[in-house]
Amino acid sequence: TQAPVNVTVTGAAGQIGYALLFRIASGQLLGPDTPVKLRLLEIPQAVKAAEGTALELEDGAFPLLAGIDIFDDAKQAFAGANVALLVGARPRTKGMERADLLEANGGIFKPQGEAINAGAADDIRVLVVGNPANTNALIAQSHAPDVPAERFTAMTRLDHNRAVAQLAKKLNAPVGEIKKLTIWGNHSASQYPDIFHAEVAGKNAAEAVNDEKWLAEEFIPRVAKRGAEIIEARGASSAASAANAAIDHIYNWVNGTPEGDWTSMAVPSDGSYGVPEGLISSFPVVCKDGKYEIVQGLEINEFSRGRIDASVNELAEEREAVKKLGLI
Ligand code: NAI
Repeated sequence: TQAPVNVTVTGAAGQIGYALLFRIASGQLLGPDTPVKLRLLEIPQAVKAAEGTALELEDGAFPLLAGIDIFDDAKQAFAGANVALLVGARPRTKGMERADLLEANGGIFKPQGEAINAGAADDIRVLVVGNPANTNALIAQSHAPDVPAERFTAMTRLDHNRAVAQLAKKLNAPVGEIKKLTIWGNHSASQYPDIFHAEVAGKNAAEAVNDEKWLAEEFIPRVAKRGAEIIEARGASSAASAANAAIDHIYNWVNGTPEGDWTSMAVPSDGSYGVPEGLISSFPVVCKDGKYEIVQGLEINEFSRGRIDASVNELAEEREAVKKLGLI
């Protein structure tokens, strides 16, 4: 069998961590032939809770779980990491300005980027889940100059999965028949779920929907505001669906996207589709042989162009703001 892969998870004692760790241990992150060693990072006050989760992980008797270590120090937690899931972040609290939020997260993602630079394995793949995810990923990346920039990604897969599910519902089709949907831009309310290239059972999904009013007034806002809808209903933010999306993101990155389909990942822009280079923005991507590539050559209509630009502009503003704060 293969040597264990080191998976570092930050915010391990949080809600998403609780939903995520068991699925990693069961082999769903990397596949059924890959043993994993978990390296959990928490703040000192939450280490005990992470230890509790580790007891439960032990009680799962997962054949693929080769070990669990718990840290409150980033350098140790990322040492030898092959996969890093950056879930822990500083949430926005009442009265907090955007600059305060970015600064507080800079205090988390700068040292974590440095720790990844110092000690992660050569094949490190980073997924940032903690919000503001795209800009947190940019901060971490800018402090890891020795790691190829494209290894830093942020999560828009939950948005992607939400959009697939809503579109399937509208078309009365099984989710498995929806392909080539795209989330563009920022993981925020400005994100743009694009169905113009999507397919339902091989036919164009936008033509099958044929309802621009639904698209503009129901579908797009529903997907963008789904997080709030979940909080309203559940009394807590989405955790299991977020963990599920993190699993999907890494699984596809490592094992590939299915033939004839693509997925959405926030990745450093190479200038494709007019997105300024270096911004970590969501794109349609195909994964193959452990690498991802931005899907090229899609025609962007006027409806899409304005929405992509609005979300990308927000990312550019966030980049300016963290530059001003000296975080990148
Ligand atoms: P939570 O508050 O339940 O857990 C966060 C955990 O992170 C806590 O245990 C906390 O102690 C830990 N933490 C804080 N600072 C840390 C640090 N410096 N190092 C290590 N651990 C640290 O939050 P939850 O529900 O698990 O969500 C985590 C993040 O994921 C939030 O920022 C949330 O906004 C984001 N999120 C992102 C989604 C996406 O689609 N990109 C979807 C859903 C949530």
